Amino acid sequence: MANVIIIGAQWGDEGKGKIVDLLTEHAEMVVRFQGGHNAGHTLVIGGKKYVLHLVPSGIVRPGKLCVIGNGVVLDPQAFLDELQALADLGVLVSGSNLKISALTNLIMPYHRELDLAREKRKGRGKIGTTGRGIGPAYEDKIARRGIRVDDLFNRQVFEDKLRENVAYHNFMLENFYQSPTFSFETMRDDYLRMGDALSPFMDDVVNILDEYAAAQRPILFEGAQGTMLDVDHGTYPFVTSSSTVAGGACTGTGVGPTRMSAVLAVVKAYTTRVGGGPFPTELTDSVGEHLASVGHEFGATTGRARRCGWFDMVVARHAARVNGITGLVVTKLDVLDGLKTVKVCVAYHRNGRRLDTMPANPAILDVCEPIYEEMPGWSESTAHARRFEDLPQAAQNYVRQLEHLSRLPVDILSVGPDREQTIVMKNPFQGA
Ligand code: GDP
Ligand code: IMO
Ligand code: MG
Repeated sequence: MANVIIIGAQWGDEGKGKIVDLLTEHAEMVVRFQGGHNAGHTLVIGGKKYVLHLVPSGIVRPGKLCVIGNGVVLDPQAFLDELQALADLGVLVSGSNLKISALTNLIMPYHRELDLAREKRKGRGKIGTTGRGIGPAYEDKIARRGIRVDDLFNRQVFEDKLRENVAYHNFMLENFYQSPTFSFETMRDDYLRMGDALSPFMDDVVNILDEYAAAQRPILFEGAQGTMLDVDHGTYPFVTSSSTVAGGACTGTGVGPTRMSAVLAVVKAYTTRVGGGPFPTELTDSVGEHLASVGHEFGATTGRARRCGWFDMVVARHAARVNGITGLVVTKLDVLDGLKTVKVCVAYHRNGRRLDTMPANPAILDVCEPIYEEMPGWSESTAHARRFEDLPQAAQNYVRQLEHLSRLPVDILSVGPDREQTIVMKNPFQGA
């Protein structure tokens, strides 16, 4: 059995998409289990760039089945636009290489409007969401009024649910937020039309996954966002609204935990964050600028500049606990090339006391000072290394120190955006 979960162990954009694409070679199926089109994953294959949001990052490899699980929230318009963008790049997506769970909740236009209205109302204290309607869509799911993909194919059920939802959300939009409201008829017609386009993709995903798992056909579970954006274990309330941790792969697909064999966590060799919220190792100096410009730290979804800082080992150790991580993937090592020294935050200082573990209340992070361990940097380029031994000695030492401090093995290293720019020390699909 080799069913591997890939998650982000920081605040997202760790390079999960690149690693999922790489490891899809060894899987037969790739499944997204949470999040929506707030995600942005960039793959570079032979110099050609693909940007994915909702469609799993395994889609570029022919002969693999991609699946959108029940834990995802799906905006049909965004999904159809993404299929068009992929077709323009020569990637053909049909019901034979992509399935969507009938249980997946839909993002509706009022979710997007509510997302924007709430952020506006919060003003300076805003979360800095992607404005895609993700949070309000998950709220409706948990409130048991969500509309699911399956509902699009039962007109009476769909109309009844939609009428109730439009009335409820219009009331809030108009009276509480003083925001634009929506017409039931227009939304009904738009969604029924998009339902026709979705119908070839809809399937009983729990059953398909069970068949693959029973037949020992390897499955890759693709996480979006990152552990520190998890709705329970992240820097609440500056988080997304889903379970981004490895456990989300079970609830978001219907595959039980005993069927999982490895949890691979992707981390950047430094840290980035988009949007508001605490970030103890953030750098606002010239090193921060170096990381942002060399690392091209701009979001693929919203184009916003990402905040940059040193690697935070307190975050990594927290992620190791809440995900049950079996191995690390360190990406963007090349971005540190040319720095005189590199630092890793090993603990925090708070009111004169040392904190080695993540505080239970993440609001405390705002007043935590990082305690750094400093190491020599390297001047050589790492971009052409294809074996660990090819790396400059100081870069090797940095990676070994990350292993030592995290007590986790580094299984894969990435030294550039291209699929080829990778060093695989241990393949999670082999020997699992
Ligand atoms: P994801 O959301 O975790 O899939 O990550 P994103 O794709 O949003 O952000 C990672 C960015 O870094 C993308 O633009 C990748 O092409 C790029 N990238 C991934 N790995 C590397 C690497 O090792 N070095 C460099 N320089 N860029 C990388
Ligand atoms: P990938 O999959 C980085 C952040 C937003 C905001 C918070 C809540 O590419 O790693 P939301 O729209 O989800 O309600 O926003 O979460 N966020 C991400 N940050 N990468 C992502 O996805 C993100 N998806 C959401 O910036 O701070
Ligand atoms: Mg991203």
